Amino acid sequence: MLEAVEQELKRQVARLNHPSARLFQEMLAYHMGWSGEGAGREAGGKRIRPMLLLLTTAGCGADWLPALPAAAAIELVHNFSLVHDDIQDRSEKRRGRTTVWKRWGMAQGINVGDALFVLAMQAILDVSHHYDASTAVRAAGILHRGCLDLTRGQFLDISYEKRQDLTIEDYWPMIEGKTAALLAAATQLGAILAGAEEERQGQYRLFGERLGLAFQVLDDMLGLWGDEALTGKSNAGDLVEGKNSLPILYGMARKGRFAQRWARGGVCPEEASELAQVLREEGAYDFCQREAQRLTHQALEALQHARPQGEAGKALEALARKLLKRQS
Ligand code: IPE
Ligand code: IPE
Ligand code: MG
Ligand code: MG
Repeated sequence: MLEAVEQELKRQVARLNHPSARLFQEMLAYHMGWSGEGAGREAGGKRIRPMLLLLTTAGCGADWLPALPAAAAIELVHNFSLVHDDIQDRSEKRRGRTTVWKRWGMAQGINVGDALFVLAMQAILDVSHHYDASTAVRAAGILHRGCLDLTRGQFLDISYEKRQDLTIEDYWPMIEGKTAALLAAATQLGAILAGAEEERQGQYRLFGERLGLAFQVLDDMLGLWGDEALTGKSNAGDLVEGKNSLPILYGMARKGRFAQRWARGGVCPEEASELAQVLREEGAYDFCQREAQRLTHQALEALQHARPQGEAGKALEALARKLLKRQS
């Protein structure tokens, strides 16, 4: 499946090819992990979203091959969001490599993201080659809704930066948009393309959504306490940028040593690892771990209701459990 996803992604990105803009193609290929220094499997990321989509289609008992354009579309949207997110978050590392904007400048970074976004919109239209027109329109609508939710989530994430008045309650709608919406779209799309009935589509959507929430909680944990060699991102970013990630909101609510330092603002990269340690001692790590477990449990419950079949069904469950222990 992974190999088929990679081939489909390359086929979709090839739409950009034009003799006048070879460097532009090169920038996209670099971000996708296919070329340039450090290219290879890890440079492309985990490809979780297309795998979720295809495994859902297969888990509903349908052939996953014709769903490949939709799988590519969801991964292209994700990659568009990463390129723009790295500009918005001023992140210099992604998947262990220099980010696109850091290498070619912000203006070209915006262009690369835009191209990936449009390629995703083209890819989802290819669904009409294998399914009837109403299914293709429905699929495009789900993807568009996911994009809108994601953008709204990113708006919240950015507007939350450096705010001192937020609580854990404010966190959930933000990550529901920026992360869970796309995983929910992936599993819902997988079920739609399998021809699953409405109720089952809803159960798969809920599975993706809950998994997406757990996924972002883990991303926040890895962003503070992860092994940078494995995450391929900096552990100082969230603290320096003043992000209201879940561990940070927990630390604020504790009103301890972390909250006192955080209230003064202006955390520098050199302080980050000590502050992360303080947060851990105040219980943020254990709290986030429990939240990720709770959400994964909800995801698995929704999956159980969807009654996935065969090997793909087992793989979906295994994937959900594996994500809870991920290091990258
Ligand atoms: C990173 O997503 C951004 C989030 C939404 C948390 P992934 O962890 O899926 O990124 P890659 O594609 O595997 O690098
Ligand atoms: C994740 O944003 C969501 C999107 C990229 C849309 P983050 O900023 O939390 O994720 P990382 O840690 O940079 O991958
Ligand atoms: Mg961000
Ligand atoms: Mg970021």
